[in-house]
Amino acid sequence: MTCFCCLDSGPEIKQLTNDYITQDFLDTLAALRPTDLTVEEARQLWNADMTSLGRNPQYIYVAVHHDKVIGAATLVIEQKFIRRGALCGHIEDVAVHPDHQGEGIGSRLVERLIGIAKHRGCYKVILDCSEELIPFYKKLGFKESERHMRLDLKP
Ligand SMILES: CC(C)(COP(=O)(O)OP(=O)(O)OC[C@H]1O[C@@H](n2cnc3c(N)ncnc32)[C@H](O)[C@@H]1OP(=O)(O)O)[C@@H](O)C(=O)NCCC(=O)NCCS
Repeated sequence: MTCFCCLDSGPEIKQLTNDYITQDFLDTLAALRPTDLTVEEARQLWNADMTSLGRNPQYIYVAVHHDKVIGAATLVIEQKFIRRGALCGHIEDVAVHPDHQGEGIGSRLVERLIGIAKHRGCYKVILDCSEELIPFYKKLGFKESERHMRLDLKP
């Protein structure tokens, strides 16, 4: 496994653009769940639906090292009636390529999204994670709160 601190300043954290929708990007997302999405299909999705930032603000960031995507994470911003229009950030789909886990990349991605949520004026950031990832998120300042519920609507 490469130790970035010995080599150079490590990956850059950048906002996702069409150019970064590559096989590396899909391999990185496969750390979350297996996908048979092709690069072409992913680009079509991105161009068709996923850039409607005005209606459904979402920020997808990638970690890029030597032009390869090795990490990704998404922030979705929700506006709440019950908070008089205040904004709540939801972090989703944090993934680091298996060859680069444990190098601080996941932390840098989450910290970047927290920074954006603060800049946008969110009063909180929330996310769901497995039991084993509680220590990872606690190190980033999160605390356990409430329970996760799920209703599957498609098989
Ligand atoms: C979870 C994940 C995003 C973490 O990213 P990462 O770049 O590997 O993590 P970092 O190197 O930034 O780790 C930061 C700290 O959290 C700890 N940590 C990371 N993953 C951990 C885990 N699974 N269990 C316990 N601690 C963990 C690290 O040991 C490190 O601690 P240290 O600062 O004391 O050394 C990454 O491992 C991953 O993509 N996993 C598969 C997909 C997944 O489960 N995503 C999360 C969805 S909620």
